[in-house]
Amino acid sequence: MAILITGGCGYIGSHTCIEMLDAGYDIVVIDNYYNSNPEALKRVKELSGKDFPFYECDIRDADGLRRVFSAHKIDAVIHFAGLKAVGESVAQPLTYFDNNVSGTVVLCGVMAEMGCKRMIFSSSATVYGTGNPSPLKEDMPTGAVTNPYGRTKFMIEGILSDLCTSDPEWSVVLLRYFNPIGAHESGRIGEDPNGIPNNLMPYISQVAIGKLQQLSVFGDDYNTPDGTGVRDYIHVVDLAKGHVCAVDYAIKHTGVEAINLGTGVGYSVLDLVNAFRTVSGVEVPYRIAPRRPGDVDTCYSDPAKAARLLGWKAEKNVEDMCRDSWRWQSQNPQGYK
Ligand code: NAD
Ligand code: UD1
Repeated sequence: MAILITGGCGYIGSHTCIEMLDAGYDIVVIDNYYNSNPEALKRVKELSGKDFPFYECDIRDADGLRRVFSAHKIDAVIHFAGLKAVGESVAQPLTYFDNNVSGTVVLCGVMAEMGCKRMIFSSSATVYGTGNPSPLKEDMPTGAVTNPYGRTKFMIEGILSDLCTSDPEWSVVLLRYFNPIGAHESGRIGEDPNGIPNNLMPYISQVAIGKLQQLSVFGDDYNTPDGTGVRDYIHVVDLAKGHVCAVDYAIKHTGVEAINLGTGVGYSVLDLVNAFRTVSGVEVPYRIAPRRPGDVDTCYSDPAKAARLLGWKAEKNVEDMCRDSWRWQSQNPQGYK
């Protein structure tokens, strides 16, 4: 029994490979290296002490996928492969619809053809859009998204739900991630963004290491305790463990379930800056800047469904997240390069 991990060389994928191997699963990984470096999987092998097959393959390449499914008995797919930069998606919507949406359609077509009908999909809290109050629950309305990246996640959730309606043999878990940060506690794998980071934690770490001068805090007049945006930060290793639980669940059930992966606790931008300074001992200079278009004031999860269906709960706290992000950043100032 093997689990195919698409996009397994990326940030969340590489951490999930380790947790799947530790849980005793055999894995097969595909990635087109669009946003990742082969060094990540080399380190996954080193950390886990296990080897596994890897294919440089694009999820839009049906023949390439057929070769992978023919060479291995795949029981389920954890589907991470996708593009994730919000700003880029606004500038290049067709690229995002082609890669994320068409890529998923090709992948599901090959899975059906090969008799593999279980998928764990990387969705996002972004599908809840702007209209819902936190804590966000899975049965709240989705779709009021603010950018093409979010729309691809909303569309794929719909496509996978329609697939389950059309064929009751399918089993799909839509995992709605909140804000993954942190890194493996070894400091050997972590997030390695291209260019200037868009997201808060990589930006903070790059200011701390001296690559960037100053953090811009996007708005201090939100309706939150200190006026800065509040998010549900979750340690990437906790998130990875959620995937192991989701695979176990998908093997025992059919149909589609959307499940939040978050801690249920919100931290502000300044909370995160302060926690980072406390654990690293390094100052993070910042200035207050205008709000970033498309941002909401508060976004955190109700994680009860994950506890109920998957038996999963986040275990690491915000200090763990900051400590592990800093260890990764300080030990690998140039990322994997
Ligand atoms: P990542 O960019 O580090 O990993 C994605 C991987 O997919 C990369 O290695 C990339 O090379 C690969 N890939 C992209 N397009 C591909 C294609 N067509 N064929 C084969 N491989 C392809 O991103 P991540 O942070 O690990 O995110 C993984 C998934 O989780 C993505 O689908 C992302 O949208 C989703 N997600 C991420 C976050 C987050 O904050 N990181 C939040 C919510 C959802
Ligand atoms: C963003 C995306 C979301 C995506 C997620 C993970 C937007 C509008 N949303 O979520 O769709 O799923 O990343 O990739 O881009 N902040 C600063 N300064 C910075 C960076 C961020 O103050 O330099 C603030 C933001 O305003 C926000 C918080 O930090 O309040 C977290 O931001 P970020 O890490 O980008 O995540 P999200 O905006 O929650």
